[in-house]
Amino acid sequence: KMNAFVNSLMQKMTVEEKIGQLNLVTPGGTVTGSVVSKDVDNKIRNGQVGSLFGITGPDKIRKAQEIAVNNSRLHIPLIFGLDVIHGHRTIFPIPLGLSCSWNMDMIEKSASIAASEATADGLSWVYSPMVDIARDPRWGRVSEGSGEDTYLGCKVATAMVKGYQGNGYSDPTKVMACVKHFALYGAAEAGRDYNTTDMSRIKMYEYYLPPYKAAVDAGVSSVMSSFNEVDGVPATANKWLMTDLLRKQWGFKGFVVTDYTAINEMIDHGLGDLQRVSAEALKAGIDMDMVGEGFLTTLQKSLKEGKVTIAQINEACKRVLEAKYKLGLFDDPYRYCNEQRFNSAILTDANRAAAREFATKSMVLLKNNNNVLPLQKGKTIALIGPLADNKRNMLGTWSVSGDPEKSIPVLQGLKNVAGNDANILYARGCNISDDTMFAKKVNAFGKEIEIDARSLQQMIDEAIATANKADVVVTVLGEAADMTGEASSMSDIGLQKSQKRLLEELKKTGKPIVIVLLNGRPMTLTWEDQNADAILDAWFSGTEAGNAIADVLFGNYNPSGKLTMSFPRNVGQIPIYYNHKNTGRPYSGVGTGKFRSNYLDVSNDPLYPFGYGLSYTSFTYSNVTLSSPAMKQDQKITASVTVTNSGKFDGTETVQLYIRDLVGTITRPVKELKGYQQVTLKAGESKKVDFTISVEDLKFYNSDLKRVAEPGDFKVFIGTNSRDVKDASFKLVQ
Ligand code: IFM
Repeated sequence: KMNAFVNSLMQKMTVEEKIGQLNLVTPGGTVTGSVVSKDVDNKIRNGQVGSLFGITGPDKIRKAQEIAVNNSRLHIPLIFGLDVIHGHRTIFPIPLGLSCSWNMDMIEKSASIAASEATADGLSWVYSPMVDIARDPRWGRVSEGSGEDTYLGCKVATAMVKGYQGNGYSDPTKVMACVKHFALYGAAEAGRDYNTTDMSRIKMYEYYLPPYKAAVDAGVSSVMSSFNEVDGVPATANKWLMTDLLRKQWGFKGFVVTDYTAINEMIDHGLGDLQRVSAEALKAGIDMDMVGEGFLTTLQKSLKEGKVTIAQINEACKRVLEAKYKLGLFDDPYRYCNEQRFNSAILTDANRAAAREFATKSMVLLKNNNNVLPLQKGKTIALIGPLADNKRNMLGTWSVSGDPEKSIPVLQGLKNVAGNDANILYARGCNISDDTMFAKKVNAFGKEIEIDARSLQQMIDEAIATANKADVVVTVLGEAADMTGEASSMSDIGLQKSQKRLLEELKKTGKPIVIVLLNGRPMTLTWEDQNADAILDAWFSGTEAGNAIADVLFGNYNPSGKLTMSFPRNVGQIPIYYNHKNTGRPYSGVGTGKFRSNYLDVSNDPLYPFGYGLSYTSFTYSNVTLSSPAMKQDQKITASVTVTNSGKFDGTETVQLYIRDLVGTITRPVKELKGYQQVTLKAGESKKVDFTISVEDLKFYNSDLKRVAEPGDFKVFIGTNSRDVKDASFKLVQ
């Protein structure tokens, strides 16, 4: 039915109208490049626009849709897209934070709520999930992804696509997802955004490509091309990537949109003029051009000159029309313009409650000496720091539809949760940064860092006086929301100087010091780890940040998050990731000789490893037992541990399973995550946890890019994080 409809429509279309369907424009709103679309209304009327992004609200979207449906020759409706990344109006923790929950039901639910709010706001398309694997925290966009691990990245990709798209668009609360940025965008050299990427095919297949494939396998309807090059050819003109891999090998059936002006940027990449790069993009398999209008302005000429074919234009047009058909827009172009839902489905109490729950589950307790947390009742708390009473920075990057005014700052949250149980004093202590150059750069993206005009010394004096009146000091420190995200790479990922000074001075008071960290990336916290009593990583927690942070600080929720990216000790260790190779000269400790793979001035280990996260209780692990010391290719074995909650609080533990292939035809990592289970145990309770290992868990891409499991020796590790594990050995036999 869809084919017949689309074919018959296409027969009526002129070439210009077909090319118009490939044009995605924005009248403003989210502008992340040097171009903004002009004369949008007229272009819609002329059939020169296929989709629009950057506007919200059923009223505005209805008006734009009316122009397309009433005034364009063929009445073809538009798709309305937007960056809905971690919630829409109700903002959830940044994706890196959400991933630290390791809770896929929760992540799926977050996407499902975002879909419901987005569709109530007139949208039919979201530019999410972002599934770029990243091993370099200098890259600002690590905040938008799920960290360094492929296994977990695939699970998150699947959960997000399911949450957004559900079982299809017959349900008008579901939205079209767009997996991005295809491909390898997270591997920008030196963590500098938009920089070159270059990697072996084995590394691509093994680590970087699977999450995109997982999204495709989950049925994602659209894909966004990345800005970077892949094997020397920008992704947006890379036929191998967009056609051979994505469509032919993976069977993707939807459409591919570029990133913002990515076609035009290939001129700067050095691929030729706009006509040439636009033709290359179309031929590679790109269907829709975001904002740059290279397709709109050059494809007809290229067609006349034989540089592209009408079949290539038809193919792209057909894919866009099919998406519109599937979204139900031909039946009802105003399907997503439901004022009643707009008034009832957005920022509801239930959505806010979900945001609070998701935020508590995403926080990671990095340190807790002498059980300084949870905070005791009846005490005086000095709440200090530039992020402590700060609505603007609660939501984090890419929260374009979130209203900071609707967010709960930490001071408010503490008061809400503690009621009369605590005496809370507040002092700002310092500005987020005193580096004016840096502040200017953030300003360039439209959002200011709030500056208190007092001198740093004045603010510190006030903070010390406040601390001296208290039993415990809770500092709220970290990054401004716009220090991470797009175009927000940093070469120094420690706390800003002003915040460090504040901490150093507070330390001198001798009061117990808790750091609540708001951040969008792993930071270098070596001094803080040595000097603070407790560190709670709250990420940017979203609309309910303050309440959720207070829930955790006061012990109403026992923290259970586990890091999905390693925290380096210093920038020199980057890239740092747990599933590294052994090398031919692995370092095995002081005294084992000089000529080993290590640094003279810092250990090889991260400060906090992948999978790490404490709880207010403690969990002890038994030794690992295996159901058999050997397995055949068609068999399975079970690895088991008994986990005991040996502390005083009930709590949830994420029990992690890693595997190492000890001998192979290519080198294999020292360990790889292959499973995990979350168990909730009452204080004193024990539970046996079983993992089934099958041959699929032992497979990898060999030199011929075939996925194989090679017979030989394996190690299985089970533990509370990627470092603290117990192990057992088994063989895979023919
Ligand atoms: O979706 C984003 C993308 O992640 C980065 N460039 C702009 C796009 C649209 O806003």
